[in-house]
Amino acid sequence: MIPNYYGDYKYIIDDLEKIQKDSRHIHSLGVAFTAVSLAMKYECDLNKAFLAGILHDCAKLKDFDDKNYINICEEKNISITDYEHKNPFMLHGKVGAIIAKEKYKIEDEEVLSAVINHIVGKPSMTLLEKIIFIADYIEPGRTQASNLAYLRKLAFEDPDACVYEISVNVINYLKSINADIDERAFETLEYYKKR
Ligand SMILES: [Fe+2]
Ligand SMILES: [Fe+2]
Repeated sequence: MIPNYYGDYKYIIDDLEKIQKDSRHIHSLGVAFTAVSLAMKYECDLNKAFLAGILHDCAKLKDFDDKNYINICEEKNISITDYEHKNPFMLHGKVGAIIAKEKYKIEDEEVLSAVINHIVGKPSMTLLEKIIFIADYIEPGRTQASNLAYLRKLAFEDPDACVYEISVNVINYLKSINADIDERAFETLEYYKKR
C-alpha cells in the first residue's frame, strides 16, 4: 500500500508491480523511500526523488532480455558504447529513461537523467543523480556489501565521499569476479576521489 502523498505516481507503481519481478519491485520501492530520506537531508525535491527512485529500474522487466535493450536503443537512435554492446543489461538506465518518457509521460529532464546515470554514475552529478546512485546501493533490501552500515551513515554525512566509496566497492567486486568494467565507473571514481 503506497501512502496517499505519492498518489500521483500510483499508475506507475501499479504498472511496475505487474511487469517487474517482486524482488525488483520491492527494491525499487526501497530506492524511492531511501531517495526521499536523502532528499529531506539535502533539500532536494522530494517528489522528484521518489519518482526517479521508483523509475530507476523501470527497464528491468520480467520479459526483457539483452535484445530488447539493443533494439530499443537502435530504434530510438540512442548511442551504444562497445561496453554496452557486450553487456546490454547495462543499457537499462538509458532504456529506462525512454520508457519513463514514452510510457509514463515523465518529461522532467532531471528525473530522466537520474534514471540514465544510476548504474555507474558519472563525474559532476546533480544532487538528484547522486541521491539515486547512492539510494540504489544502500536501500534497506541490500545485504551484500560488508560495509553497508558505514555507507548508510556516510550517505547522510558526505554524499560525495559516499559516491566514491560505492564506486570503489563496485569496481572491486567486478574485478573479483573478472567481469568487464564500464569506463564510466572509473571516471566516477576519479572525479569523486578529489571531493
Ligand atoms: Fe539498475
Ligand atoms: Fe536498482
